[in-house]
Amino acid sequence: DASDIEKGTYPHYMLKEIDEQPFVLRRIIANYQDENGKLAVSSEIVNAVKEADRLYIVACGTSYNAGLVGKSLLENISKKPTEVHISSEFVYNTPILSEKPLFIFISQSGETADSRAVLVKIKEMGYPSIAITNVKGATLYRETDYQMLLHAGPEIAVASTKAYTAQIAVLSILACTIEDDCSFDMLNELSRAASVMEGLCDNKELYENLAKEYLIESRNCFYIGRHVDYYTCLEAALKLKEISYIQAEGFAAGELKHGTIALIEDNTPVVAIITQEKINLNTRSNIKEVKARGAAVIAISMRRLSAETDQIIIDDVHEKLTPLVSAIPAQLLAYYAALYRDCDIDKPRNLAKSVTVE
Ligand code: G6P
Repeated sequence: DASDIEKGTYPHYMLKEIDEQPFVLRRIIANYQDENGKLAVSSEIVNAVKEADRLYIVACGTSYNAGLVGKSLLENISKKPTEVHISSEFVYNTPILSEKPLFIFISQSGETADSRAVLVKIKEMGYPSIAITNVKGATLYRETDYQMLLHAGPEIAVASTKAYTAQIAVLSILACTIEDDCSFDMLNELSRAASVMEGLCDNKELYENLAKEYLIESRNCFYIGRHVDYYTCLEAALKLKEISYIQAEGFAAGELKHGTIALIEDNTPVVAIITQEKINLNTRSNIKEVKARGAAVIAISMRRLSAETDQIIIDDVHEKLTPLVSAIPAQLLAYYAALYRDCDIDKPRNLAKSVTVE
C-alpha cells in the first residue's frame, strides 16, 4: 500500500523520521527566509509578539517538552517572559495572566482536544494566539490568529521525533526575529546544527550497541541533566516509555540527591545529558554519585569524559541550540531498546498519534 512505499527501505516510520531531521531543519531554514536570505517570520507575528508583555505556551506530550526548550530560547535570546503550560491543566489551574498575554499553541497535529479547549477559553477572554503546527488547515491552525508551520512533512510514527526538533527550530527562529539586536547568527548556527544532526544519525551502530548493553533487560531507566539538558531528559524519558515500555523518568540532576538517588541500584541505567559548559562539572559529579551506587551510566555529551564512561559525543553546536541535536541519540537509544524488546515501534500500545478527546 501507499504507506509502504512512503516508508521506503526503512523497517519503521520512526527510524525514517529520525533520519529526516537534518533535512527538515534545512527545509525550515529555507522556509523562514526573506528575499535577502535573512531569517524572517511574518511582520504580523513579530508585532503580536512584541506587543505582548508575556507569552503563554500551551501544549501536550512531546510538544510540551519542546515548549520548555522554547521558553528557554525566548527568555534567553529575546528576553521575553514566557510560561509553559500543560493544556489539560490550564483549564483548571489557569495562571494569573499578565495584562497583554499572547498564547502560543504548539501541536504537531493541530488537533489535540486538550489544547483546543484552552484555545476556546482564551478566545472567549479575548486574547490573541499563534499556532505552531505541522498540519496546515488543522483546527488549531484555523482557529488561531497567527500560524507558523513546522514543515516537517507527515509524521506517521506515534512517537514524535522530527516534529519535536522542528518545533524547537521554529521557536528559535521566532526568538531571534523578535529581538532587534539579536547577536546570534541563527541562520549559520541552525545550518551547523543540521550537519551535526547528520553525523549523529550516521552513528546508529553505537546507539544499537548501547541500547542492547544497558537498556533492553532493564525495568527502568533515568535521564539526568541540568538547564536545557533537563528538558531533553524529559523528552528522552518520554520516548523510551512510549515505545519500549521501560519505566523512564527525566530528572534535574541537582535534584537527584533530594530523593531520586534512592532508586539507584546495581546496574540501574542512567543516561546523563551534558551540553552546557557552565554546568558540565556539576552533572559530571552527579555521574560519579550514581556510579558509586552501582548505576550503569551512558553520557551524551559535547566533550570527552573519563574513559570509564560509555559516551555518545556530540560535535559543537551553539550552546542555545544543543537541544536540537542531543535529542537524536536519545531518540535512537529508545528506538533500539524498543526494537530488541520486540515492541510495536510505530504503533505503541494504548497510544494514539492525535488525541481528539479531552
Ligand atoms: C499524543 C501523541 C504524542 C504527542 C501528543 C501531543 O499523545 O501520542 O506523541 O506529543 O499527542 O500531540 P500534538 O499533535 O498536539 O503535538
